Amino acid sequence: MTAEPLNVAVIVGSTRAGRVCDAVAGWFAERARRREDLAIEVLDLAAYAFPPCYPQGATPSMRRFAAAVAVADAFVVVTPEYNRSFPASLKQAIDFAYDEWQAKPVGIVAYGSGSCGHYAVEQLRTVFSALHAVTMRDWVGLDLLGPGMTEPGPDDPGPAGNCRPHDTDDRLRAVAALLDQLTWWGRTLRAGRRDQPYVS
Ligand SMILES: Cc1cc2nc3c(=O)[nH]c(=O)nc-3n(C[C@H](O)[C@H](O)[C@H](O)COP(=O)(O)O)c2cc1C
Repeated sequence: MTAEPLNVAVIVGSTRAGRVCDAVAGWFAERARRREDLAIEVLDLAAYAFPPCYPQGATPSMRRFAAAVAVADAFVVVTPEYNRSFPASLKQAIDFAYDEWQAKPVGIVAYGSGSCGHYAVEQLRTVFSALHAVTMRDWVGLDLLGPGMTEPGPDDPGPAGNCRPHDTDDRLRAVAALLDQLTWWGRTLRAGRRDQPYVS
């Protein structure tokens, strides 16, 4: 094992106008950056200008996203729950890469309004297992309607743009558990991929 920092891509899964996802991802990324063993890169799906329909050949934005997935050793997907699943924007992006996900760990930060995004988490586990990626057992779940969220204020740039989680003990414990597991799997699988090609 090496002391080389683990390259972790934090994926902002919602591209909705007025989304909360960028605030939640920012909150998580700030806490993850406190760890010296991780190099955190935020991949915002709203910044990619993906094609509306799956094209016959990869577009530059699809190639750019797949390249960002390829260089990451591990991922944290930040996702809302939409009708007991995760948003189409996230599924679209996941499907733009394949080999690039393989033999890598995926952590999940999920949230909902009334739920903590549990259904989105379970559906992502199925999708990532099809891509030979491994999801972490522990995840971070936030109920936007529960206590410990900053309410949108008068200076709020959007309908929910100020909605950030507070640092409760439970949340910080959940972030630490997720990152501990992600780091173990990330280092182990990086060494494994270097040792021998994955057998997909
Ligand atoms: C299409 C849609 C479906 C939703 N379905 C659920 C749901 O099944 N469970 C839940 O707890 N919240 C649900 N919500 C509430 C979202 O969790 C909430 O609007 C959240 O802010 C969405 O994330 P975003 O702002 O980052 O897009 C839904 C919201 C939308 C727009």
